[in-house]
Amino acid sequence: MHDSQTMKVRTEPGEPSRTWRRTAPGLLGAGAGKRSVLAFLALAALAGCLALLVYSWLGHRSIKDSAQAVANLGRITRQMNDLQSLLHDGTAPEGSLGTALQTIRQDLNNVISGPGSTKVFQEILVRSDTLLTQAQRALERRVLAKANGSTDHGETAAQLGEASGLMIETSLQLQSELDRRSTAVHHRLALSFLLAGLAFCAIAVNAALQLRNSGADGLVSDSAAFPLLLAAAVRNTDEGVLITDTGIEIGEPMILFANDSFKSMSGFPDRKLVGEPLRMLRTTCLREKEFSLLEHSYSNSKSATMETIRWREDGSKVYCEWHISPVRADDGKVTHFISILMDVTRLREQEEAQRRSKEELMEAHQRLMENQQQLIHSEKVAFLGQLAAGVAHEINNPVGYVMSNLETLTDDIEEIQSNPTGRPSSAGDPRARFFAETREILQESITGLDRVKGIVQGLKNFARPAEAEIKDADINHEIEVALKIVNNELGGRCTVRKHLGDLPTLECRPGQLNQVFANLLANAAQAIAKHGAITVTTEFTGSEILVKVTDDGIGIEEKNISQLFTPFFTTKPTGKGTGLGLSVSYGIIQTHNGTIEVESTIGHGATFTVRLPVPTKDQT
Ligand SMILES: Nc1ncnc2c1ncn2[C@@H]1O[C@H](COP(=O)(O)OP(=O)(O)OP(=O)(O)O)[C@@H](O)[C@H]1O
Ligand SMILES: [Mg+2]
Repeated sequence: MHDSQTMKVRTEPGEPSRTWRRTAPGLLGAGAGKRSVLAFLALAALAGCLALLVYSWLGHRSIKDSAQAVANLGRITRQMNDLQSLLHDGTAPEGSLGTALQTIRQDLNNVISGPGSTKVFQEILVRSDTLLTQAQRALERRVLAKANGSTDHGETAAQLGEASGLMIETSLQLQSELDRRSTAVHHRLALSFLLAGLAFCAIAVNAALQLRNSGADGLVSDSAAFPLLLAAAVRNTDEGVLITDTGIEIGEPMILFANDSFKSMSGFPDRKLVGEPLRMLRTTCLREKEFSLLEHSYSNSKSATMETIRWREDGSKVYCEWHISPVRADDGKVTHFISILMDVTRLREQEEAQRRSKEELMEAHQRLMENQQQLIHSEKVAFLGQLAAGVAHEINNPVGYVMSNLETLTDDIEEIQSNPTGRPSSAGDPRARFFAETREILQESITGLDRVKGIVQGLKNFARPAEAEIKDADINHEIEVALKIVNNELGGRCTVRKHLGDLPTLECRPGQLNQVFANLLANAAQAIAKHGAITVTTEFTGSEILVKVTDDGIGIEEKNISQLFTPFFTTKPTGKGTGLGLSVSYGIIQTHNGTIEVESTIGHGATFTVRLPVPTKDQT
């Protein structure tokens, strides 16, 4: 079942053991402190609010009573005024006046002893009552006086008037007292609402704190339900969890807990593992080497991490990352070991897929490069094929006259040999003629052979394999080589003007670059119908070498410009052009990190500009 196995192991000697019994330190104290201050604040605010409400309610009641007292006083005052006018008129019978006065006094006494009047007002009102008593007595005296023939009620009326004045004054004072008290009650009510708001805020913040702390901070561990929550979490987590004892008691660690995730990751989905010795994992889900690492972690009480691969029955792999940690009691003694398993199969499969696609990409890139090189080479061969006839003609001419010169020399030598005396014949002295002609003939032959050598060298350079080596090259020299190659194409029709500037050497593939220049020159020549000029300019800008090939030929139609660098695009008749020259040139310039651009005006020719970056010393 387990054909092969790979494993990564990392132990962390200095790492503190991860003890799952720990709670988040510090947070508990800080959170509780804040919460108790807030609770106290809320309570104090609530108590203040309540006290103010009761006080306001009492105030409101006393205001109500006082208002009632003011109303009663107003009524009594009105009655007294009525009585006073009756006395002035002298129309009312004394009996009814006495009863009315008695009723008024009764009412006033009710107000004095009632809940609405304060001590100060009571004093004033008692003075009014005294005046009323005097008025009553005056009335009684008036009844007696009537018996003596007197009709004067002035004394009674005066006392009534004074009493009523006092009551009006009291009413006014009571009224302003009432206003003051009602403002105070309003203030108290506002303050109590403020305190209620404060209490509400404190309660809300307290609740929020409690909620937050009952989350990840571990404050929930205070609660009695925490062990149950912890057990449920460990049972149901997607990570495999295995807990064993240390094995000290019976000599080998025993499995105390294994959750369902552990069982399915380790290949025992339906088996009861609790009570089994740890060694049962050996060779079933852990290979020998992995098991000894587990043992090493147990015997040294150290945390360890390892990765295992298990083969399923269907041949697929399960990758698991194991984190083994000792569990310590509060005194630091190791009591148990816990292993947490993470299924990293999907991650590893993704990595594997990524690695495969990267390899495929590299292979495809390699194939592409090979194809490109092949294309460059085939284009070169085709180009050479086209040039072969012209080149043959080029070589034929100098070789022809070198041959004829050598024949002349051979004839001269034969003549000298057949006439050893050196007698001059009809054609003159053969020796003299030989010496006179030989220098000129040899010079001509050397020039002719030089030309042949140049052409052959050019062809040799040009025909170098596409994957030619990288070396330092002089671009002006490569242009000269290209010119030699296309010399036949240029024929006598094209005047070539060269403006070759001072260039630094360039690290490049010279064989490929002269292929590009030859293509550009051949295209320029082919674009010139009868006679014309081709200008080749080179220039160094400080960061790049510029090569411009300009002709005054037919130019390029605008619709064709975007297709020039597409393979097999040609406007030339079959057999004349393959349409590969520019596309191959484009590829070559790209591999040199350069660019190639074209400008053309139909009927006035075209300019192709090649830019080749020259790396600075730092870049190389
Ligand atoms: N200097 C130029 N003047 C006008 N047209 C040009 C010039 N250079 C290229 N072209 C146009 O671009 C086309 C493509 O050129 P390219 O060199 O790729 O192929 P080709 O010359 O047709 O064939 P090959 O180079 O493979 O023999 C040419 O057919 C021509 O129409
Ligand atoms: Mg071409």
